Amino acid sequence: MKLAVFSAKSYDRTYLDQVQGERFAQLCTIDYHAFALSEETVSLAQGCDAVCVFVNDILDGPVLRGLHAYGVRAILLRCAGFNHVDLATAEGLGFFVANVPAYSPEAVAEFAVALIQTLNRKTHRAYNRVREGNFNIEGLLGTTLRGKTVGIVGVGRIGLATARIFHGFGCRQLAYDPFAGDEFRPYGTLVDLDTLLQDSHIVSLHCPLTKGTRHLINETTLARMRPGAMLVNTSRGGLIDSAAVIQALKTGHLGGLALDVYEAEGELFYNDHSGEIIHDDVLMRLMTFPNVLICGHQAFFTREALTEIAGVTLGNVSDFVAGRSCKNSLVTEGHVLVREDTEPVRL
Ligand code: NAI
Repeated sequence: MKLAVFSAKSYDRTYLDQVQGERFAQLCTIDYHAFALSEETVSLAQGCDAVCVFVNDILDGPVLRGLHAYGVRAILLRCAGFNHVDLATAEGLGFFVANVPAYSPEAVAEFAVALIQTLNRKTHRAYNRVREGNFNIEGLLGTTLRGKTVGIVGVGRIGLATARIFHGFGCRQLAYDPFAGDEFRPYGTLVDLDTLLQDSHIVSLHCPLTKGTRHLINETTLARMRPGAMLVNTSRGGLIDSAAVIQALKTGHLGGLALDVYEAEGELFYNDHSGEIIHDDVLMRLMTFPNVLICGHQAFFTREALTEIAGVTLGNVSDFVAGRSCKNSLVTEGHVLVREDTEPVRL
């Protein structure tokens, strides 16, 4: 059994090799490719039984048909989100598709809170000032979070982990989630999206990217936000209309923006472009605001999460090889295991 790992970084190799050595010896041979999977690189999968991909690999119809023609029969996502996979085509071609549904939700939640506090207390600016011998604190004024209202959009694993942290900060919490159970009740109140936007000093996005949530934050919903509020996105870039956000930042209506994800990140993130001209004018404009903080999709990036990702991914490979039913399957027996209301969009 041969597995081709796309978008492979040194840390992917380290953790997959380590976990394979410890728990899945003899399961498969692994080819690592630094390139993302796309129509241009799909031929690298020739002779492989399975491919392993990450968030910015392309798995649209042409790529899936290419993989199938090269003999690939399984797709292992080493991430939770699957908005970049054309599941209907994968189903039609009979692919085994499995993800890693949760790998340390706390890692993402803790990072969201770190972004919020960095933006709020301006420690990124203080760090640079102090290194240059400038100990002036003018312009570094923040707000105390205790008593402020935090709005969490999507109270699944990561949203709930975020709520647990803000509970400790002494914040009032609101959540919007059309499919929420009772788990959020100890931390705050479930409300409709408009109420959440109107009342929250901080809005943190933790819902998946679907047809229904694409550009959930747009000109109209931004206008409903409390003036001066802070918006944080560690979920998927497509949840935010970046052009609308720029306008809201220019007028000052939006008080701050922290992004770990960006709607056109596929072209840039996870690679070093520091010696190049970056042609994405929207991203470059966003970076000029003093109250915008952008990271390159690293919220998940902890040792614990990488160990979990490698373990679950190789466990999914093992289920595929053994022909066992896999609890992380997204497509099984010709049925796409995704609710219609959360049907992923192809971007
Ligand atoms: P989850 O599936 O446990 O929770 C998602 C929640 O969103 C569910 O409770 C669901 O009911 C809710 N939801 C669905 N549609 C909604 C809507 N229209 N409005 C409000 N809520 C809605 O997922 P989990 O594990 O909490 O992950 C959330 C997202 O975080 C993932 O979709 C993924 O895109 C992103 N993520 C980002 C990472 C990063 O490194 N930045 C790492 C891992 C996940």
